[in-house]
Amino acid sequence: MDVHELVATIRGRAGDAPVRIGMILGSGLGHLADAVDGTAISYADLPGFPHAGVSGHNPNLVVGTLEGQQVAVLGGRAHYYEKGDPTAMRRPLEVLKALGAEILIVTNAAGSMRPDMPTGSIMCLNDHINFSGLNPLIGEPTDNRFVPMTEAYDADLRRRLHAAAQAADETLHDGVYAWYSGPSFETPAEIRAIRMLGADAVGMSTVPEVILARFLGLRTAAISTITNMAAGMSDEAISHEHTKAMAPIGAARLEKVLRGALRDLD
Ligand code: HPA
Repeated sequence: MDVHELVATIRGRAGDAPVRIGMILGSGLGHLADAVDGTAISYADLPGFPHAGVSGHNPNLVVGTLEGQQVAVLGGRAHYYEKGDPTAMRRPLEVLKALGAEILIVTNAAGSMRPDMPTGSIMCLNDHINFSGLNPLIGEPTDNRFVPMTEAYDADLRRRLHAAAQAADETLHDGVYAWYSGPSFETPAEIRAIRMLGADAVGMSTVPEVILARFLGLRTAAISTITNMAAGMSDEAISHEHTKAMAPIGAARLEKVLRGALRDLD
């Protein structure tokens, strides 16, 4: 199915109201899709959407309203590390754009490299470091591939997220996210290196999606929920089980902030 046919399928099930905001939910955060008042469509019915490859993800596209906004929420993502494909989220993002989305909000679980940003914290990305060196636009034949990344994380959206956090009396940190390919976690030496390079949090997603979103002309914001201190920074064990177990702490904060920002978006 091409993008056009996927959009027709989605419209046939979820109606014609144009979507304004697309969202991608990270590990342990998929339940936010259930809060949307609308129609859930299984990825299995949408060729080109990711398989439910990673536990803790919710493999549905939910189209409807959340806090008065028309949204399309991807309850789970495909990661580079699943099949070695940095373009894995291109088709779902093209579909969000074709449904009318102007804004993309990305969430993820991440490890923290800042002692003042412990497990359970949330961090608004103000920039990223592509530590993987991979790029989802390699092979894109048009000149549109030369995407400027100077303002990848939209200043207005960031301001709104911080205002929503303040109104909800929640601390929303601000920082740089480094993309590490995974699926193995980082070594302590790698974490020391990324810290020196200026990163505040580390994770295995988001960066390829933000590059693709900018390529598609979407305004983008991203928030990490901190599920652990990065390797070598504490005695805390690092595992996918631990990520899933800790995600709900930050997820509750994240949901409050996101809902507040959506409510106030004009
Ligand atoms: N490293 C990479 N990805 C992660 C981490 C981490 O420490 N925690 C959650 N996702």
